[in-house]
Amino acid sequence: MKYLASLPAHWHAWLRNPIAIGAIAPSSAQLASALVRSLPEGFSADVIELGGGTGAITRVLLEQLGSERLLVVERDLELLTGLRQRWPALQLLHADAGTLDSALTAPTHRYGAIVSGLPLLNMSRQVRHDIVRAAFAVLPESGVFIQFSYGWRSPLSAQLTTALKLRTQRCQLCWWNLPPATVWRYTRL
Ligand SMILES: C[S@@+](CC[C@H](N)C(=O)[O-])C[C@H]1O[C@@H](n2cnc3c(N)ncnc32)[C@H](O)[C@@H]1O
Repeated sequence: MKYLASLPAHWHAWLRNPIAIGAIAPSSAQLASALVRSLPEGFSADVIELGGGTGAITRVLLEQLGSERLLVVERDLELLTGLRQRWPALQLLHADAGTLDSALTAPTHRYGAIVSGLPLLNMSRQVRHDIVRAAFAVLPESGVFIQFSYGWRSPLSAQLTTALKLRTQRCQLCWWNLPPATVWRYTRL
């Protein structure tokens, strides 16, 4: 599905739940590629994507990793069904990202990175905390959590990264996205 073709499904989901969808448009291919480039050099582990939506980031992750190395977590059943119809071999988990550690049935040692398309800035401090805590609970010591945001500031506050003992890195600004987005990478201290 091309970018323009995915707009009706995205807007339909946005009208149903604007806070959970967050963005007015799906991520661009350029932003999706910037997220993938933010994986560590020589990265060879499996990846979890949080908030697959209409699949803008999923498509690029699938191209880079293949369906055996990717698990997509999506809470919205309609969007999850759309992803399943588009890529029948895609590994999908219908769950809230805040419960990732208890919802995962596969052995967690497979996963080395989490790429998140969740609208963290629309969420309360507690929900953000729960999601990032659950993400690092399934990642190994060297695991990375990659997130984009539309603001100039890190979507995880200093208070949150201090509490969870995380290091913040600003990776890249992607102008070719609506709106322009910054890619952030978080690792354990
Ligand atoms: C901004 S859309 C991103 C969609 C797509 N990844 C992209 O970048 O275009 C956010 C997605 O996260 C999902 N989502 C929001 N909160 C979630 C949660 N707590 N757990 C799992 N998925 C969630 C929404 O249903 C939506 O599909």
